[in-house]
Amino acid sequence: MEIIKNVKGTHDIYGEETNSYEMVESLMKSIAELYAYNGVRPPVLEYNSVFVRGVGESSDIVRKEMYTFPDKGDRLLTLRPEFTAGIMRLVVQNKLYATNELPLKLYYVGPVFRYERPQLGRYRQFNQFGVESIGNNSPMNDTEVIVLAYTILCSLGLEGVTIKINTLGDEDSRNNYRKALKEYFKDHIENMCEDCKSRYELNPLRILDCKVPEDRPIIEGAPKIGDYLSEASKARFEQIQDALSVLQIPYEIDESLVRGLDYYSETVFEFHYKSKAGLDYGAVGAGGHYGKLMEELGGPELPGVGFSFGIERIVSVLKDDGLLNDTKSTLDVYVMPLGDESVLVAEEIAVLLRNSGGYRVDMCFDKTKLGNMFKRATNKNAKYALIIGEEEIKNDSVIIKNLTTQEQMNIKVDELIDKFDELFSKEETQE
Ligand code: HAM
Repeated sequence: MEIIKNVKGTHDIYGEETNSYEMVESLMKSIAELYAYNGVRPPVLEYNSVFVRGVGESSDIVRKEMYTFPDKGDRLLTLRPEFTAGIMRLVVQNKLYATNELPLKLYYVGPVFRYERPQLGRYRQFNQFGVESIGNNSPMNDTEVIVLAYTILCSLGLEGVTIKINTLGDEDSRNNYRKALKEYFKDHIENMCEDCKSRYELNPLRILDCKVPEDRPIIEGAPKIGDYLSEASKARFEQIQDALSVLQIPYEIDESLVRGLDYYSETVFEFHYKSKAGLDYGAVGAGGHYGKLMEELGGPELPGVGFSFGIERIVSVLKDDGLLNDTKSTLDVYVMPLGDESVLVAEEIAVLLRNSGGYRVDMCFDKTKLGNMFKRATNKNAKYALIIGEEEIKNDSVIIKNLTTQEQMNIKVDELIDKFDELFSKEETQE
């Protein structure tokens, strides 16, 4: 029968790679916790309107990339294409802004779905880790979110991350800028791509994201946001730059950075890293400040700021740069019963070692030669083998063998956990 393959743009994560994802995610969580963020788990499925209103009708995500479908009750649902709008829906619905000190600091991790053209670093189902800090408008809140993201990337071992920052200004600044863009593109739009034509009508700012090579020279000549900023937005952006400099966080100002989601205002940023192999997976993370998103979703007027990392891209660059060396699965003990009578006793001992000793233990269930069992133990990277035969059952004992030094000893079952505790603590001090 023909085998069924995974859906285009999705990918299976298994073996050592699973450990890499878990290592990366748990490091991200633990650092976010140091910054006083708490975990949150919104559903993967949301009503379509969460993203149409949240991410915005002029964004490519909403226009072209969402997995949207009616369910059997004819409700229009969407598999989340990002977290931020869903988090905001969760905060508004559960009134978390009223029952918590602000800023409300939340982190999340999980799969997101976008119908994009699959290519290097671009999937249709991928994983994001991110944070949102909601309900405080201080430029220091934006700064701290950038510092947190940068700290995580450095802690993963990435050196030379480029942080690109820009400001989109407040509403007045953006309205003035949009007018200027409309004026500029008025004479060019006829010769630009179909997407740009509809962006021109919906939100001319989105034209700046266009990747069509023929459109780029026109876009390069467009007015820059910097010339349309209000005094307040200019001052805010300068405060963020000063704070980043004091905190010794390197950054570059990129005036062409506008981000592809409609909810942003004021500060926006992206994190870029080129692996030593020179492969460019695109930004490893990105984010920004949003002033009106909560209101768009029916909540009070509270701003927020956050970022999301693309975990696939981060795991790829870590792998390329050899920064994922210690993710092989290992076993503390591999239990080897010799003969039918030993199997149940062996299982009892395996359960004891796991439940009372906290050791990672696997056991051989097959009737096979001792030599084969040792091969399996080696393949599973076991530190110790534990052998139980007829003789050992009679004496209430087991044989344990250190698979590195080949030393072996006979131990009474009721002394087993103490013995392993001693052996493993010795190993730890040697390491
Ligand atoms: P975003 O730039 O759309 O922002 O996505 C964040 C990150 O997700 C990107 O920098 C990239 O690493 C990763 N990513 C995006 N698309 C793909 C893809 N097709 N395949 C693999 N990785 C991808 C957001 O999602 C915002 N919610 C960020 C944010 C949080 N802004 C404020 N708070």
